[in-house]
Amino acid sequence: MAGQFAIVTGASTGIGLELARICAREGFDLLVAADESDIHDAAQLLREEKGTGAVEALQADLATTEGVDALYGAAQGRSIDVLMANAGRGLGHAFLDQEWSRIRDVIDTNITGATYLIHKIGRDMRSRNKGRVLITGSIAGFIPGSFQAVYNASKSYLNSLSFALREELRDTEVSVTCLMPGATETEFFARADMLDTDVGTTDKDDPAMVARNGFEAMMKGEADIVTGLKNKVQSAVANVTPAEALAKQHREMAEPGTAKS
Ligand SMILES: NC(=O)c1ccc[n+]([C@@H]2O[C@H](COP(=O)([O-])OP(=O)(O)OC[C@H]3O[C@@H](n4cnc5c(N)ncnc54)[C@H](OP(=O)(O)O)[C@@H]3O)[C@@H](O)[C@H]2O)c1
Repeated sequence: MAGQFAIVTGASTGIGLELARICAREGFDLLVAADESDIHDAAQLLREEKGTGAVEALQADLATTEGVDALYGAAQGRSIDVLMANAGRGLGHAFLDQEWSRIRDVIDTNITGATYLIHKIGRDMRSRNKGRVLITGSIAGFIPGSFQAVYNASKSYLNSLSFALREELRDTEVSVTCLMPGATETEFFARADMLDTDVGTTDKDDPAMVARNGFEAMMKGEADIVTGLKNKVQSAVANVTPAEALAKQHREMAEPGTAKS
């Protein structure tokens, strides 16, 4: 992939860092972005990967128009071969107990910022008739997420956007792939205030495995990838289970106080 250029958002930790690591090893030139200054440490790690091309880092709040514009500007008009729209935030606890500012941040990051970025870069890809987009959705998008309501709804949006955009681009050389992980061992649950929940405290998938599955699916131009057998079964069952029953089941893993002791 030498000479190809990839942008990975949310690349400072977790799934995004692993996606960026794979891109580095594959020889992509990389532009990585995240909200905090840790993105510069992540970029340094990525530069140490064997085979890596140039690695640039940008600290930008991708929940904002200015942040997305800054990321797009940092590409300096280069052809973007791969966009991995991965940055995202979770948020636990009952909907009415959540702070509005945090709800807003989830929506602005997972929905508004991601959509704006995909729209901007997607247009460039369409006009060049070339590109690959990997959107990190989630199996959470299939399940009404009691005690994680806004987050699951945001992932439902992203899953849906991904399939729709893919269909619209069917006759082009631009592919859109939705990466749908299940619970994965990252900083996500601590940041979402979910360490007092069942899902926050049980064993989770390895982010490197999740990223590898996502990368491979994207390179093959597949529509989606649900990572791991358990999650594949869970998403298949979710497709045929009434929403009310799914919301009830979700309470058992996401309600505060359900943590494994
Ligand atoms: N972990 C799971 O169980 C799981 C399951 C399914 C899907 N996902 C999805 O996977 C993606 C990555 O999450 P993760 O599990 O790897 O969690 P993570 O370790 O918390 O990583 C989240 C990344 O997104 C960045 N980010 C968040 N808000 C941002 C903003 N406003 N602007 C710029 N960057 C921002 C973070 O950077 P800063 O630290 O700088 O804010 C970080 O790099 C998310 O979209 C998440 O919804 C996760």
